[in-house]
Amino acid sequence: MRAADISDDISEVLLTEEQIHDKLAELAAQVAADYAGRDVVLVGVLKGAVMVMADFARHLPMHITMDWMAVSSYGASTRSSGVVQIRKDLDTDITGKDVLIVEDIIDSGLTLSWLLENFASRGAASVEVLALLRKPDAMKVEVDCRYVGFDIPNDFVIGYGLDYAEKYRNLRDVAVLAPHVYS
Ligand code: PRP
Repeated sequence: MRAADISDDISEVLLTEEQIHDKLAELAAQVAADYAGRDVVLVGVLKGAVMVMADFARHLPMHITMDWMAVSSYGASTRSSGVVQIRKDLDTDITGKDVLIVEDIIDSGLTLSWLLENFASRGAASVEVLALLRKPDAMKVEVDCRYVGFDIPNDFVIGYGLDYAEKYRNLRDVAVLAPHVYS
């Protein structure tokens, strides 16, 4: 018997690698126009945003700097409170900087809503959000997201940085996880 492939665990490809790259190129053109003449700090939220950051940033023609944060909620019971723990903080001082947070997905919106407040309190000149994916039906709090790639249904999606139990991040497409994997 052969070893299981990732494709065995997928019920449907939602977005192909090509669709994702086309969209990131389109968003990069908008960002380049909006931020012309300004210094932008791209902040990726680990780990899911790694692929989005790598591909989006390489579509940008202008100078940028890049930083990373790692955050996690305190646990299932407190997740709805939106309390977030910083596991890795920024290396750079964002006071007076134009910050663009780069995310793979907005699900409940709790992570971003906390991050937006946190960055504003550090004195950033501006803070905007770019998210490849957004699940409108899962959102618990409104998040002002200036650049959105795709609104998607409230399915369990994996790939292109998104995980299930830390796996599937290396899938090139975004896909729906087959129920047999988690049921
Ligand atoms: C995911 C994603 C966002 C967050 C969105 O990260 O990358 O940061 O969840 O969810 P929310 O809108 O409900 O707050 P996760 O905590 O799964 O960590 P990971 O990026 O390391 O996979």
